[in-house]
Amino acid sequence: MSELLDKINRLKDELNHHNYQYYVLDNPEISDSAYDKLLRELQEIEAKHPELVTPDSPTQRVGATPLTEFNTVKHEIPMLSLANAFSAEEFSEFNQRITDLLKKSGVHSANDIKYAAEPKLDGLAISLLYEEGILVRGATRGDGSSGEDVTQNIRTIETIPLKLLGKKVPSRLEVRGEVIMDKEGFEELNNIQRKNNEKLFANPRNAAAGSLRQLDSRITAARPLSFFCYGIGIISDDITLPATHSKIMALLKSWGMRINPESKVVTGINGADQYYTRLFNKRESLEYEIDGIVYKVNSLEYQKILGFVARAPRWAIARKFPAHEEMTKVLGIDIQVGRTGALTPVARLEPVFVGGVTVSNATLHNQDEIERLDIRVGDTVVIRRAGDVIPQVVNVVLSKREGKPRKFKMPTHCPVCGSVAVRNENEAVTRCSGGLFCEAQGKQAIIHFASRKAMNIDGLGDRLVELLVDKGLVKTSADLYSLTHEQIANLERMGDKSAEKLLKALSQSKQTTFARFIFAMGIHDVGETTAKTLAEHFQSLEELESASFEELLSIRDVGPVVANNVTTFFKQKHNREVIDALLRAGIHWPKTPSVSAQAQTLFGKTFVITGTLSDMSRDEAKQALQALGAKVTGSVSKKTDYLVAGENPGSKVDKAKQLGVEILSEMQMKALL
Ligand code: IVH
Repeated sequence: MSELLDKINRLKDELNHHNYQYYVLDNPEISDSAYDKLLRELQEIEAKHPELVTPDSPTQRVGATPLTEFNTVKHEIPMLSLANAFSAEEFSEFNQRITDLLKKSGVHSANDIKYAAEPKLDGLAISLLYEEGILVRGATRGDGSSGEDVTQNIRTIETIPLKLLGKKVPSRLEVRGEVIMDKEGFEELNNIQRKNNEKLFANPRNAAAGSLRQLDSRITAARPLSFFCYGIGIISDDITLPATHSKIMALLKSWGMRINPESKVVTGINGADQYYTRLFNKRESLEYEIDGIVYKVNSLEYQKILGFVARAPRWAIARKFPAHEEMTKVLGIDIQVGRTGALTPVARLEPVFVGGVTVSNATLHNQDEIERLDIRVGDTVVIRRAGDVIPQVVNVVLSKREGKPRKFKMPTHCPVCGSVAVRNENEAVTRCSGGLFCEAQGKQAIIHFASRKAMNIDGLGDRLVELLVDKGLVKTSADLYSLTHEQIANLERMGDKSAEKLLKALSQSKQTTFARFIFAMGIHDVGETTAKTLAEHFQSLEELESASFEELLSIRDVGPVVANNVTTFFKQKHNREVIDALLRAGIHWPKTPSVSAQAQTLFGKTFVITGTLSDMSRDEAKQALQALGAKVTGSVSKKTDYLVAGENPGSKVDKAKQLGVEILSEMQMKALL
């Protein structure tokens, strides 16, 4: 048995050591998989000998039986808060105040005070109690004098050692620090929440707090929390404390605590200021959120002289960064039409200063986002602007909602051109279907139309298109073909020669191919390849124009989104008008009856597949049939030639029998293929 214990202890020590190398020193010595192997080894032994499992075992980070409530913990030494400084002047006043106080107390060298400067982490304060080096309790700050016992949850956080490292550790030690969620973890968590249709967290701090206050620690274990230590509370007197805060932190680090790597001792106002600027500039690139700098008088002797006021130490101050978040009012919700036809709702705001700039608009992205936020005109909202990121609406302050404002609805028509607005299934965006016609998309549509892989109009670049549209000479791509020599030659930086060249290119572009023309129309999601597919499938533009959703769907590589975009595009009167104008201008292409299509053995036959196939998926079968020219549709009708029935086929078989449609087994289908 003692051999086994030795083995367990060796494994634990090894795991603790590697944890320390990884999280505290940021210097892993072994690979993740080697670490996992050690952990599994320990897990296997513990599974066989549950009596040997201790709370400080590295295997105990997965969470424990859910609690019904948290116990209250009284902090032996209160957990204080910090005074704030919102400007360099306020920091300077603080510095002056304590310099004077120290001088009055007989400290003569108090002119350039040394400060331990640390990022002010935006998470939640935690107290960790170690007895004989073992983590025995974790508690929230609460109201400062008592908090909640969240030990089970704390144990799941990998950056918190379950056991202190080293030979000589105090018999009792309370470590204090901040539990945070880094930005990436926060985004991922919200993605998961969104997928599961659960409430999103407004910011990493809320997410960290929400995760730590879970009665079920298995939920906490799954949340990406981490910890930085920034001080101590109780410490037993079997340890002689060093004379400065920075040295205490170094000592804590040697015991396995994670210290923020940005921490630095700075001297006087200048040093403090330089540190502030450096971190302010670095703020966005840090992996976690910080909302300012904490300056602590480094000398413990001075700290003692300075003492406390009310609920905060006189020897420390937090210099806050300008806020990322502010409240303001939604004056209205406008719809912007983007270059690709996306209809984006934008909140018009009462101007507010946030994150260093004045913000008067914030994107609301799409209908789903508006519903998620339940944002209505007149609401008070929290706006957030971090770094260069566009301002976001974080949430609505429901308590400030007045009356019963109406819910916002996306318009059914494009506000610029009046075309129908379409939202495809599984897509969040609503789009204008005006394509060729919509002025908001106009320039972009013409640029696309003229591009090399579309109509290939040599010499008609972005700048020239913009000029032509801005001068009112061209509204749609069809107008290009009625430009006169004079009109072009009179444009800025153009002349007779370039006008001649452009007219020649325009004239040459009239002879094109069906595929190029389809691509040039700029139907959303119809790229070059899809355009080719469509050109091969349809004999003429008329056929394509009148194709039904079902028919389009039966074409290989055409899904419901493209099928829907194509039919909606041709339903728009203005799109057909532009096309007619283009054809009248003389655009033409050789008619190529698709010989290859007719050579295909299943050409003209319509199939429906139902039930489970044994040798291939339904999709694979569909593709194989289509490769031979067959159409594959979703429901049985008079037009269906064959129903392929796999196992558990359902009602389609009855329908086929009713209509006299031939039913094939999977084997029979394979014979056809
Ligand atoms: S020291 C007596 N250091 O800020 C001083 N606090 O506003 C106690 N915080 O509750 C705190 N980063 O949650 C200290 N490097 C840091 C900090 C920090 C974040 C939080 C902490 C505290 C709050 C005070």
